[in-house]
Amino acid sequence: MAKIGNIDVGDFPLLLAPMEDVSDPPFRALCKEHGADVVYTEFISSEGLIRDAAKSTMKLDIYEKERPVGIQIFGANLESMLQSVEIVEKSGPDIIDINFGCPVKKVVSKGAGAGILKNIDLMVSLTEAMVKHTNLPVTVKTRLGWDNDSIKIVEVAERLQDVGCKAISIHGRTRVQMYKGEANWAPIAEVKNNSRMHIPVFGNGDVDTPERAVEMRDKFGLDGAMIGRASIGYPWFFREVKHYFETGEHLPPPTMMERLDAARRHLQMAIDWKGEKLGVFETRRHYTNYFKGIPHFKEYRMKMVTSDDAVDVFAAFDEVERDFSDFQFA
Ligand SMILES: Cc1cc2nc3c(=O)[nH]c(=O)nc-3n(C[C@H](O)[C@H](O)[C@H](O)COP(=O)(O)O)c2cc1C
Repeated sequence: MAKIGNIDVGDFPLLLAPMEDVSDPPFRALCKEHGADVVYTEFISSEGLIRDAAKSTMKLDIYEKERPVGIQIFGANLESMLQSVEIVEKSGPDIIDINFGCPVKKVVSKGAGAGILKNIDLMVSLTEAMVKHTNLPVTVKTRLGWDNDSIKIVEVAERLQDVGCKAISIHGRTRVQMYKGEANWAPIAEVKNNSRMHIPVFGNGDVDTPERAVEMRDKFGLDGAMIGRASIGYPWFFREVKHYFETGEHLPPPTMMERLDAARRHLQMAIDWKGEKLGVFETRRHYTNYFKGIPHFKEYRMKMVTSDDAVDVFAAFDEVERDFSDFQFA
């Protein structure tokens, strides 16, 4: 049984990865419904939060139904990170996660995200200060190292644990790799095999089939899997993995009606949360995957992704139901 602080997250939990512009409350709620055990917000800038930037503070919203939820923040300035902890606490998350893995230039160039992998002492001292500043469990998400020549993740993880980090999620790539190549889970297994480690070690990167999740659990011996891209527009991935764990068999893919139900609820939740304009806009990225595999779908998809009016998008869903309700997904 894995525990993040006092939170029982079950046996080999599946975690929804933090993903910018994806892991928002409506999407997290759908993933939770379909089996995600822990969900994380997208990363939120500590500098944005302390300036009360509306874009950052909106990302703090959470629904009761998605708990346990972690809010992820990034930054490299101690004062800003500590002030952000206080702001984040007011939203009542279950976990505060620190992003020490984002490879994007504008984040890294400020020494934040994966940029901190060049300064492990700062990474550890920031974590320690944040742990001391809150009663919530603090977790860390990071990468293997800056580049292939600087992979010290076993030592880094141990140091983070020693200053009170309650779980670590490791993406099996270096910063230099960005998203290229295959994720390497062997160094994550080394972290787990360190006899001094007692906090959960979650693996991340390329878990895109139930078989890969089994491999992460049984071959690499990790404590849980954090899942990102495989869930985008496909929140059913979590239940498919769980079903496979329990039975060794694949669940049939979601039916058209399940997909339509998810798409409709996703859009409605997004509108209720952000208003029509943003809700319609930000849900668009999911439709391609929701309806992937339907032939001659372009005309329908175009209606979904070009209209600014929710009525038109709902009408497009109705047309899909009318024309494809018997479609069998492979
Ligand atoms: C669209 C997108 C946005 C992401 N945003 C974040 C983020 O805000 N914070 C973070 O820690 N990682 C972020 N990531 C990285 C993912 O959390 C994850 O580490 C990565 O996608 C590898 O896992 P996967 O192979 O399961 O997708 C993002 C990834 C994608 C594809």
